[in-house]
Amino acid sequence: MYGKEIEKILISQEEIKERLKEVAAQISKDYAGKDVLFVCVLRGAFIFFADLVREVKCNPEVDFIAVSSYGAGTSSSGEVKMIKDLSAPIANKHVLIVEDIVDTGITLKYLKELLAARQPASLKICTLLDKPGRRIADLHPEYSLFSIPNEFVIGYGLDYDEKYRTLKDVCILSPSEYTIN
Ligand code: PRP
Repeated sequence: MYGKEIEKILISQEEIKERLKEVAAQISKDYAGKDVLFVCVLRGAFIFFADLVREVKCNPEVDFIAVSSYGAGTSSSGEVKMIKDLSAPIANKHVLIVEDIVDTGITLKYLKELLAARQPASLKICTLLDKPGRRIADLHPEYSLFSIPNEFVIGYGLDYDEKYRTLKDVCILSPSEYTIN
């Protein structure tokens, strides 16, 4: 159903839905009775975030932050740039950062330190994908839907050169389609 630019589906939309239900149930239980703010890390997390906030039972507030660590290629530049900050203070709030992928961990480590300095009541991370094999920063997400091998993945919010974010499955991009930098 996909063209030759897609090597294969790594995680299907059905698998995502099923696992998302399990993790949402756990998050709902952990935050029961608490006011919680879910922070979407733009842009990659936007689709996962939209599905997650509608699946949890803890009625979260939402806010958005945008950072960028990648250039046009497939590997992190190691530099994190703040593009858009949160729209309100988070002091004394229970904050859950929602990310699409933790790769080297550099982006999340930066974000965690940045937000921790604003003294939230608690601060945790929920990621759709975790690539522990690529980790450089000491970073352990509290919630992770899938641990994946070191393949370049696209779809369900994740891009290559700003394309493929709207694919419904998480897919592996054919090596002929990208240049490694
Ligand atoms: C991706 C992803 C994470 C980060 C993970 O963002 O969304 O934020 O890289 O990489 P790291 O663990 O090696 O730091 P990207 O900069 O591609 O921006 P995007 O979310 O707009 O796609």
